[in-house]
Amino acid sequence: MLRRLHHEQPESFAFTPANLAWAEAQMTKYPEGRQASAIIPLLFRAQEQEGWLSKPAIEYVADMLGLPYIRALEVATFYFMFQLQPVGSVAHIQICGTTSCMICGAEDLMAVCKSKIAAHPFELSEDGKFSWEEVECLGACANAPMAQIGKDYYEDLTEESLAGLLDALAKGETPRAGSQTGRFSSEPAGGLTACMETAGEKEATNGSVTRALSIGDGVKRIDGTEVPLSAPWQAGGQLGPIGMMTARPKTAAQQAEEKAKAEAAPAPKAAAPAPKAAPEPVVHVAKEEAPKPVAPKAEEPKVEPTPEPTPAKAKKGPVVLEVDAGEGVQPQGLDAPRGDKADDLKTIEGIGPVLEALCNDLGIYHFDQIAKWGADEIAWMDSNLKGFKGRVTRDKWVAQAKIITEEGVARFLERAKTNDY
Ligand code: FES
Repeated sequence: MLRRLHHEQPESFAFTPANLAWAEAQMTKYPEGRQASAIIPLLFRAQEQEGWLSKPAIEYVADMLGLPYIRALEVATFYFMFQLQPVGSVAHIQICGTTSCMICGAEDLMAVCKSKIAAHPFELSEDGKFSWEEVECLGACANAPMAQIGKDYYEDLTEESLAGLLDALAKGETPRAGSQTGRFSSEPAGGLTACMETAGEKEATNGSVTRALSIGDGVKRIDGTEVPLSAPWQAGGQLGPIGMMTARPKTAAQQAEEKAKAEAAPAPKAAAPAPKAAPEPVVHVAKEEAPKPVAPKAEEPKVEPTPEPTPAKAKKGPVVLEVDAGEGVQPQGLDAPRGDKADDLKTIEGIGPVLEALCNDLGIYHFDQIAKWGADEIAWMDSNLKGFKGRVTRDKWVAQAKIITEEGVARFLERAKTNDY
């Protein structure tokens, strides 16, 4: 299928504060210099926030990760989990149309979508609540035919059950995910034929359905106001759907053990009553108000404000340049690009729009400046690019810049095809 950016795009995109905090936490899951690996969860969160993935959102995520835009576009346009155009406000139905599902009735399911939603894939229903598309195998072939709706799989579907699901979703309900014929998971449709001895011990629903039921939100999009959850290794949590991190539920055995320990522990001694202190006099303090700016009188000599000390960290978009580390020597910068024309530093592999802007902020505009960096300058840059530490060495900025300076951009691009630098 041809996957292109939508012809109408919003002006801009920005994560909500909660989603930004969540996204930054995701980036810490990867080693320094490997934050690009967070691209899938960040793009998906952008989609959850906006309902679909716009060009500004893709570029925003690329900027966060210091990637050239084309890299983020490659990911966004490859996976059909990313919706590149507006989809139904309640749900976008993805019907699997690959072999197992097709021979088990996927075409009937698509006929339901055509009659209840819209005649064509990606066309919005009249009320704008639904849209649908046919997708490739979703890996639930043993429960064919099936559909993904929001974050959940709905399996063993029939025309009637899919129509019922759509009706329930239209009413604002979140129908139970999983098999719609009552299968626990992918055991034979006629019932278990092996492992019978464990049949009575299983839970009422499988892990994925239990998770969906506990969240109670298979299709509702994240509005960005939820509290960002802590990393799993910090809270003993585990990865939930779409990389959402949730606290790990305690097993019954763990709960029983904790209860027994609590009961066995001696009751804490009652603290000795604190001597009564003389009552503190109540002091009413006037609420501190921000000083109002006072306009200087015309006849008074103009007093230059004391310059603020240079902040330790200069914020530049989502990337922070740390200038407090003691390693190395800051590269010599220029006040402005020579001839008012900066080189396109993004030619260097590993420098994206964000890092180029940071270099420019440091007075680095030209390839020959980077080509002259020695060990001290490289160490300073490597240690001060928060989120991109080690990037200069790892991506061999200096070697690349030297080739560009000495042999020209065309020759460099030729050599770059085989990473010959
Ligand atoms: S063929 Fe439909 S899930 Fe694999």
